[in-house]
Amino acid sequence: MRKKLLAGNWKMNKDIAESIDLISEINKGLNSSVFNKADVIVCPPFISIYPVCEYLKHSEIKVGGQNMYKETEGAYTGEISANMLISAGCRYVILGHSERRQYFGENDTLINQKMEKAITSNLIPILCVGETLSQREENKHIQTVTEQVKSCLKNIEASNEQEKFIIAYEPVWAIGTGVNATPEQAEEMHSEIRGILKELYGEDISEQIRILYGGSINEINSTDLFKMKNIDGGLVGGASIKAESFIKIINSVQ
Ligand code: 13P
Repeated sequence: MRKKLLAGNWKMNKDIAESIDLISEINKGLNSSVFNKADVIVCPPFISIYPVCEYLKHSEIKVGGQNMYKETEGAYTGEISANMLISAGCRYVILGHSERRQYFGENDTLINQKMEKAITSNLIPILCVGETLSQREENKHIQTVTEQVKSCLKNIEASNEQEKFIIAYEPVWAIGTGVNATPEQAEEMHSEIRGILKELYGEDISEQIRILYGGSINEINSTDLFKMKNIDGGLVGGASIKAESFIKIINSVQ
């Protein structure tokens, strides 16, 4: 049985003081029994990671970065390394988010290199994939996501003993639009992705890899999405920067 996972992607929201306010509200609002059903991760902006980790020292909530660079260190102005994220307290990192692909020109080759670096550095990447609206309208959504998954996982190993990576299916047309994929649309893609994982890693391992859904998740649609067989939780944007909504979404895990 895969344990559910709820990750909040705060994107470019919340300064340091606001980050502490938000995380303290989330932390205080969650009943400790919820961690038996679900893992909870927050991904604040870089400068808030360390103070948020310090605040969460005795909490079950884990912290992730929203991005990192593929190199170990050096002259890469404005970038951040896997080891820096770890030193600040991160266990996870989001990679290949569609906003990185769209606004910062990231492609599958670079994302694949980042995946490799994250994993060898002992971070658990949350690999984001997803089609645009026009790709779906042209009925190319499955092909698009299949290519993304295969390219980004090239030469990436998975293991039975330890979680190496997580996948998040985030259809671009559902991000920040208020139009979520229906549970059936999401399940269709998640089961395709599970099929690719089976091809790559075999049945046993593919059944252990968590596949999250992301795109306009809220406290109203989360229950039905999380009931689907291959949906192992969510990567939440807008609703994760409102403590009340994020808590309700986490509590909607059955
Ligand atoms: P929204 O939940 O705001 O649609 O964002 C989803 C997302 O991009 C999470 O990474």
